[in-house]
Amino acid sequence: MKRKPLVVANWKMHGQKAWIEGFIREFMRALGPLDRGEVVLCPPFVFLAQLQDALRQTRVGLGAQNVHSAEQGAFTGEVSAPMLKELDCSHVIVGHSERRTLFGESDAAVAARFTAAVKGGLVPILCVGENAAERHSGATEERVRAQLDAVTELAGIAAFTQAVIAYEPVWAIGTGNTATPAQAQAVHAFIRSYLAGHDEDVAARVRILYGGSVRADNAARLAAEPDIDGALVGGASMVVKDFLAICAGFGI
Ligand code: PGA
Repeated sequence: MKRKPLVVANWKMHGQKAWIEGFIREFMRALGPLDRGEVVLCPPFVFLAQLQDALRQTRVGLGAQNVHSAEQGAFTGEVSAPMLKELDCSHVIVGHSERRTLFGESDAAVAARFTAAVKGGLVPILCVGENAAERHSGATEERVRAQLDAVTELAGIAAFTQAVIAYEPVWAIGTGNTATPAQAQAVHAFIRSYLAGHDEDVAARVRILYGGSVRADNAARLAAEPDIDGALVGGASMVVKDFLAICAGFGI
């Protein structure tokens, strides 16, 4: 049995108030009843309150793009899980490759953020994935395993019952070079077998999203793979008709 599909928009550092207002108006007009799947929007922190209001009477979820490991303290520029809960966030992205590569977040730091999200009652969307050099040298599984090990060791395997994993090959993000469905499926299956090695029930339940140049014209083919349970979408999530088509591709 396949898991309930989930499609997540990662708006990264894009958007303004007026654009968001227009997006939500157009998006909600066309979006179905969400009986068959879930949709979550992750805007920059400063727009969470606006979306909290806009999404209040809807079934669309709200997520942040990162969370700090502490609940409060002298961490200038950071935001904690209790703060995100106050804004009605249900989800939070952790360990996005841009955080890892541009902002130096180590596997251990990502694991600490993941753990804080779970403790704070949020669903972390844990991003994992190899870069081009790692893929070419055959180190994809080794890299993904190390990223998962850091989280499993700190948070425990049971924490994954409250989490989502996103496989995002770094070479596919924002490049137009989507992984083929077979390439993605192979890593998704690896991730699921990794989880099954710890707990079969957890492995069967965890949703594993694919991210990296998901578009309207490739979503359905990715969705057809047995271990691809949804998508984490960057660029195409900012165009209402494309994002709707991606949701539809996943049966939402
Ligand atoms: P993209 O980004 O869809 O623009 O490739 C995906 C992501 O970074 O989550």
